[in-house]
Amino acid sequence: MTDKAPAAYAGPVRVLSGVQPSGALHLGNYLGALKKFVDLQHKTDCFIFVADQHAITVWQDPAKLADQTREIAAAYIASGLDPARAAIFPQSAVRAHVELGWIFNCVARLGWLDRMTQFKEKSGQHKERASVGLYTYPVLQAADILIYKATHVPVGEDQKQHLELTRDIAQKFNNDFDAPGFFPLTEPLIEGPGARVMSLRDGQAKMSKSDPSDNSRINLLDPKDVIDSKVRKARTDPEPLPDNLEALKARPEADNLVGIFGALSGETKAQVLARFAGQGFGQFKPALAELMVETIAPIGAEMRRLLSDPAELDRILSAGAARARAVAEPILEETRAKVGFWRPID
Ligand code: ADP
Ligand code: TRP
Repeated sequence: MTDKAPAAYAGPVRVLSGVQPSGALHLGNYLGALKKFVDLQHKTDCFIFVADQHAITVWQDPAKLADQTREIAAAYIASGLDPARAAIFPQSAVRAHVELGWIFNCVARLGWLDRMTQFKEKSGQHKERASVGLYTYPVLQAADILIYKATHVPVGEDQKQHLELTRDIAQKFNNDFDAPGFFPLTEPLIEGPGARVMSLRDGQAKMSKSDPSDNSRINLLDPKDVIDSKVRKARTDPEPLPDNLEALKARPEADNLVGIFGALSGETKAQVLARFAGQGFGQFKPALAELMVETIAPIGAEMRRLLSDPAELDRILSAGAARARAVAEPILEETRAKVGFWRPID
């Protein structure tokens, strides 16, 4: 999967991803993103950052933002990311992101951004009151990726469109500045059982930090009894579990719970059904809750331990930022030269 860089790009394989520090992380973030980062760190060079500049596209309390940033870093490490392997850092600590972001603002076209569905969802009914940053957010995301010439980006399904935009920007930059193969055409790594974890209250809606109902999601910091109770209350239907995938498809809530079970146990949905077919949710839910507690509770406990020592987290983030800058700054210089900016005398 990551042993080969995208076509027409001769640089090294490099993985990058990020999560915004804008609310408690949940099981969807873990299965769709964090777990993939942890698996990839053993295979290739990884840059995993905390997207604090993306977070401020909507209001963030300045007194809390740095702590929220530490919390995401703690979640990464508690999930198994090793700071000695992956560079873990805050986006705002590597200023090259925004500088490349500006250049890309001048490469991307308004029509491309007008198509972004996440802006439409996040800006709601009053889009004239949304920040300009929220609109141009996907352009900064392209810069986050290409400032490291990252070739692969592990994310959940909802980020697919932003990755397509990143490729369009890379392609246009390479064409406009007569630099074939300068930026890679980055590939998303989306596939996998946890790519789209749905709400526990509604099988048609994505599990999300912004859902007003806390019962809709399992947070990484939820204690055992809360996990048990959320699984018990999860919306289901009265039928027992079917013995085939076709029948499961028509039942979104059941499909979601079976998918979560498989993502946690490392089984396919078909394997999960082979075990539970004919059983009701009265039997399936306690097994699912147990599996969730086994995975999530130790992560939560480790996050709490890490958060009790913010100075150590700050050392990790500072060292990660220094490693990231060492890669990003030369790429920014090369890019500035391609654009034709004046250069100071050495
Ligand atoms: P949220 O949608 O809860 O605000 P973010 O936008 O911060 O989460 O997402 C951080 C990462 O987690 C992204 O890679 C995103 O694709 C992934 N992700 C978020 N929600 C889910 C979900 N329900 N299922 C799978 N992956 C998800
Ligand atoms: N947009 C992503 C999200 O909302 C976060 C993000 C910002 C990101 N820059 C990125 C993800 C670069 C992958 C690569 O979840």
